[in-house]
Amino acid sequence: MADFSNKVVYQIYPKSFRDTNGDGFGDIPGVIEKLDYLQELGVDYLWLTPFFPSPQHDNGYDVADYCAVDPKFGTMEDLEELIRQSEARGMGLMLDMVFNHTSTEHTWFQQALAGDETYQKYYIFKDGRPDRIPTNWQSKFGGPAWEYVPALKKWYLRLYDVTQADLNWDNPRVREELKEILRFWKNKGIKAFRFDVINLVSKPEVMEDDFLGDGRRFYSDGPHIHEYLKELVRDAGIEDFVTVGEMSSTSVEHCIRYSAPEEKELSMCFNFHHLKVDYKDGDKWALMPADYQKLKELFIEWQIQMQKGHGWNALFWCNHDQPRIVSRLGDETAYWKQSAKMLAGMIHFMRGTPYIYQGEEIGMLNAHYPSIEQYRDVESLNYYQILLKNGKTEREALETLAARSRDNSRTPMQWNGERYGGFSETEPWLPMSAGFRNEITVEAQQNDQDSILSFYKKLIAMRKMYPVIAEGEISFLETETDRVLAYQRKLGEQQIVVFCNLDGEKHTVKADGDWRGDPVLLENYEARQMDPEGETYTMEPYEFMVLGKV
Ligand code: NOJ
Repeated sequence: MADFSNKVVYQIYPKSFRDTNGDGFGDIPGVIEKLDYLQELGVDYLWLTPFFPSPQHDNGYDVADYCAVDPKFGTMEDLEELIRQSEARGMGLMLDMVFNHTSTEHTWFQQALAGDETYQKYYIFKDGRPDRIPTNWQSKFGGPAWEYVPALKKWYLRLYDVTQADLNWDNPRVREELKEILRFWKNKGIKAFRFDVINLVSKPEVMEDDFLGDGRRFYSDGPHIHEYLKELVRDAGIEDFVTVGEMSSTSVEHCIRYSAPEEKELSMCFNFHHLKVDYKDGDKWALMPADYQKLKELFIEWQIQMQKGHGWNALFWCNHDQPRIVSRLGDETAYWKQSAKMLAGMIHFMRGTPYIYQGEEIGMLNAHYPSIEQYRDVESLNYYQILLKNGKTEREALETLAARSRDNSRTPMQWNGERYGGFSETEPWLPMSAGFRNEITVEAQQNDQDSILSFYKKLIAMRKMYPVIAEGEISFLETETDRVLAYQRKLGEQQIVVFCNLDGEKHTVKADGDWRGDPVLLENYEARQMDPEGETYTMEPYEFMVLGKV
């Protein structure tokens, strides 16, 4: 098993990272150009979201060829250069394997459409009449999860876009093809893999209507999932790689099995429960203020249960599917800097491997697009129509997108204060965030010791410096308010205690543990100290404080 407890992963969305050839579309040479920046940040792995040939209906998560580079992103030589140059700087590449579905432009699907039964068995086709949809399951992007092909008189399953056909993992040939893809990338020098919605790949043998939900309870963590994952990892020879599975609507019990070393499945899991605490009745498209009590309970449950079961969490707030965390749980104006630092610190000291999504390290904000014309994401465009159809006004629908759209995180990276943020010299494929301002750039922050960027560098350096952060046991402290989260990590003689005020108001905490009087290791306010004599401590808005003996 790879040792990853003191590692940090940085996620790059190449399309929005850096455009070197002036087409408004980020590319692999752009990633090479920024390697010194990433090395200086101190990260260990670079997760690149898909750059494979793709019609881009879902920004590359609709893969048409798993073993090539889309010319829009560069060439295979560029990628090989990126692998070499990253390695020379002590960083490994993590590739994104989208194995639940392929693009309908993939040759496998094209051959299936042409009538080749071998390839029809690669997918989930069901015979039937156009007016008899196989099940009432819903696509994650809205609408039915099945698409009819009149020429074949068959339906195919597509849990995402109509151009993303679900693969049939029950077919051993499909599983062999996927192992071959992993071997191909392993031979190229790839060091880590992220598996897209991997817990959805094992579908039930009998597919039935879901009268309680959208179908997910039948195919999430499906019947053969653990068996298939073990087989894939073993046969592709990637047991000692860093691997992370994206787990949709999963449970802690399954994530323990996915990530406990003795199971030999994956190194760690992403779960999304903590990012649904502002979904009204679990509906992403229904807004409500975040439920902080729930947020705390979820962190406590996942940290403690995963520890008990030897599982390992991927720690994250942001990725290319999530709104920016400062806009969501922090403060975009008065406490922008403090809240960005507090949110970062809150997860970086937990038990697990932290992930940083491009721009998070400088406190980037949501897109704040004023009109639907600025959006590009297929899910956002679909749901805009669905919201209108369900009776929302245009304003309400736009308000919902402003809070929930995946484009919030996909706006171009803000390197400097130029018109297009130093991302490109031409108009980018997706407009800049309307929250783009000079202080939210790498250039403005890189020489400022008090910047969010410098804070992230400290977090990464501390994980490497103090084994208690990487390996220590975690326990949570009781607090009087749901707006303060406090926890302790212990490893032998080393201990740290972490206080996070999640609120824009002051809150008081009891200063009465065995850590009382320990020195402050990190703070997001200047010159704050916990009074070793006092019984309570008053935290400033969004204050973050770490005390410890290390
Ligand atoms: C999860 C990815 O993160 C997301 O961007 C994509 O749309 C779906 N999986 C489908 O591949």
